Parts: sequence; structure tokens; C-alpha cells
Amino acid sequence: MSVNERETWSSRIGFVLSCVGAAIGLGNIWLFPWRLGAYGGAAFLIPYLFFVITLGSTGLMEEFAFGRERKAGAIQAFKEVYAERGIDWGDKLGVIPVLGVTGVFVFYAIVVGWILKYFVLALQGQFAVIDKLPAYFGSFAGTPKTIIWHLLAIIITILVLRLGVKDGIERINKVMMPTLFVILFILLLRSLTLPGALEGIKFLLVPEWSKLANPKTWIMALGQAFFTVSLGGAAMLVYGSYLDEDADIPASALQTVIFNTTASFLAAFVIIPAVFAFGLDPKAGPPLLFITLPNIFKQMPGGYIFSVLFFLSIIFAALSSTMNLMEVPVEALMQRLKISRKKSVILVGGLTFAVGLPLDLSMKLFGHFADFVTIYLIPIGAVMAAVTYFWVYDITKARQAINQGSDNPLGTWWEPFAKYVFTIVAGVVLILGIIFGGIG
Ligand code: PFF
Repeated sequence: MSVNERETWSSRIGFVLSCVGAAIGLGNIWLFPWRLGAYGGAAFLIPYLFFVITLGSTGLMEEFAFGRERKAGAIQAFKEVYAERGIDWGDKLGVIPVLGVTGVFVFYAIVVGWILKYFVLALQGQFAVIDKLPAYFGSFAGTPKTIIWHLLAIIITILVLRLGVKDGIERINKVMMPTLFVILFILLLRSLTLPGALEGIKFLLVPEWSKLANPKTWIMALGQAFFTVSLGGAAMLVYGSYLDEDADIPASALQTVIFNTTASFLAAFVIIPAVFAFGLDPKAGPPLLFITLPNIFKQMPGGYIFSVLFFLSIIFAALSSTMNLMEVPVEALMQRLKISRKKSVILVGGLTFAVGLPLDLSMKLFGHFADFVTIYLIPIGAVMAAVTYFWVYDITKARQAINQGSDNPLGTWWEPFAKYVFTIVAGVVLILGIIFGGIG
């Protein structure tokens, strides 16, 4: 393929499944269940659903259409829009969302490394043997033992990305996503039939209305809605840049949101009833995956097979996101340096591994880095993409670009919603994130 010829998806379903893969990730399986546990149970679901459907789909349509129209990643897309207004530093602005997403890739690859390790522990039946799971996790995360797993996560992502969009990303997502849903369903059946699961189901289904009076329920749901569909101004944009003119963007965005939300719910209905059944704390927070759940598998009938399936499902969810995250700097370097895909993946893989190394060795550093990226860079990227496409470019042209190829085009009513409500709320996500030390 010549350097000028842009890759494209081979099918509509392949594109949607790749976007679903990108959206579903640690945000759904790790963050969502504990946020739900910590901020209101069933009551949390109400604002979350509302935000993800209205704002999530708007952000996705924006990024898909912006990428498709410019047939380019964020740096080039920003550059062109600002250049049309006589501003010649648009590319510098476009670097910010690309850096944000690359930053997510840096810490995400580390967590994927932990998950790969826990998958192997599950395969070896180790959860039944390790007696102090918290101490075990403490002696692993933040130590040199993680480096090899971190490297493995990056190598797997490199191997897929070097095959390209169609033969790599699309092909593997077409297998991983359906499998992920099948596994989640199997796990759901196991969890819901555990004695004592009912309390957890109630916690998820019966809202305590008073929780809706707590602004934190809304704030956390808002941040979660943005993060879980990957709104950072570059990740979905790059997938959109491989789209044909006849792809239906509103339909694809809605399908991505629906599958993404279904995965979040499935994960919550797998995890929370099991946590209740074993009398554990649903508010455990980040240790949920690495301490609470292995503890459950240890005691549960059939725990071996379910622990293997569970960690496999997270691997699928997380790797399909690392592919999307890494594609952002890979595309940017291919385009900027005019280098081949193969060279770019090696370059990005090597650089991001090097940047991540100090984070492997210190959980404190890891936390600061992840906070910096998710509190500042990603929300700033989301705001910048909205301002650039809806304000600096043109909201009417943006709507027409979204509608191109759609069976259900958006009406003019959508313009003030996207231009004012969406952009302002994206700004609010940024400000609240800074105030509360992270809401995504
Ligand atoms: N949506 C991903 C998840 O839920 O894990 C995370 C993510 C990817 C956030 C890409 C932001 C982004 F730009």
C-alpha cells in the first residue's frame, strides 16, 4: 500500500465491533462496578444511562465524523480546520489529545500486564493456594516482577497493529467481541445463581432515591459516561478516519453506546451479586479485580473455570482497547514522519514501554501519572475536539458530515445541543475532575 492510500474497514460490522472493543475496557469492567458500588448502587445507573446515551453518542458521532471527513488522525484534522481559519498552529493543538490517549496507553498497558499475570495464576489454579491475596497483590504490583508482563501486553498489541486496520484490528475484534459477550453471559449465570446473590441484585435494581440528591452520584456518573466510551478527542477519531462515506455514523455511534453499556451492566451483574454472596465489600475500589474477586473464586464451586473465563474476558476487553489507544500515536507517527506502519508500531511500542517502566516500579508514580492523564489530558482533549469541530469548524457542516450516509439523519435541533450543551458539559467534566481529583 502506498503511503497516500488510507486503509479502510472491510465491513460495517467490523467497524462497529472494533469501536465496541475500543469503548469496552477497564472503564467498564474495573471502574464501573466499583463506582456503582461506591456511589449509590441502582441510583447511579439512572444518571449514567442518561449521560451515556445523550452525551456519549454525541461525542462518538463528533469523533467519527471529524476523522472520516479529514481522513486523518487528530493532529492533521485539527491542523486543517484551524488552517481554514488562517491559524497555522492547529497541529500543535491536535498533539494534546494524541498525547492524552497515548498516556492512557502507557498506564493501561501496565494494568493489562497485571491482568495477563492474573490470568496465568487462574490457569495454574493459584487462587486456591495463595492464602493472602492482598499481600500477594502488594508484592507484585509496583515491583520489577510486573515488567515482563507489561512488555508482553505491548508486544501482543504490536503484533495485531502491525497487520493493519482490516487484517489486524478488525479481524481480531470480530472474534474477541462476540466471545467476550458469551463469556460474560456464562459468568452472569454463575453469579446470579450463587446463594445470597439476591441481595446484590437488589442493590443493583432497587434505587435508593435519596442517593440522587447527592451531587456526587451525578458527577461520578458523568465522568464515567465520558471515559467509558473513550471520549478524549483522538481515539474514536482515528477509527472514524478509516470509514467510508456511506457508513452510517449515527447508527454506529448508537450501537457502540448500546453494546458498551450492556457490557458495563453485565460486568456489574457478574461482580456485585458475587461480592454480596460472599459477604464482601462492593465499595472495595480498585482492588476489586485483583483481591476481592480472586477471593471469591477461591471459595466458589467451579471457581477454577470461572476465574479463567473471567480473566480471559478482561483480557479481551482490555486488549481491544489497547489496540485502539496505540493506533492513535501509531497513525500520528506514520503520517508525520512518513514511515511505515511496521516501523511506527515498533517506535511507539519502544517509547511507551520506556515511559511506563518507572511506573512499573512505583504504585505512587503510577497513580500520579494515571491521574494526570485522566484528570487533565483526556478531558482537555474532549473539550478541544468539541470546540474545534463544533465551533471553529462549523456546527452545520459537522452535522452534515455526520449525516452523510445515514438512514436516520440528525435534524437541526441537534446543532444547539451539540454546540452548547455537549461542549459545556465536556468543560464541566474537566473542571469537576480537577475539583474532585478524578471522576472518569
Ligand atoms: N473506554 C476505555 C475504557 O472504558 O476502558 C478507556 C479509554 C480509551 C478512555 C480511550 C479514553 C480514551 F480516549
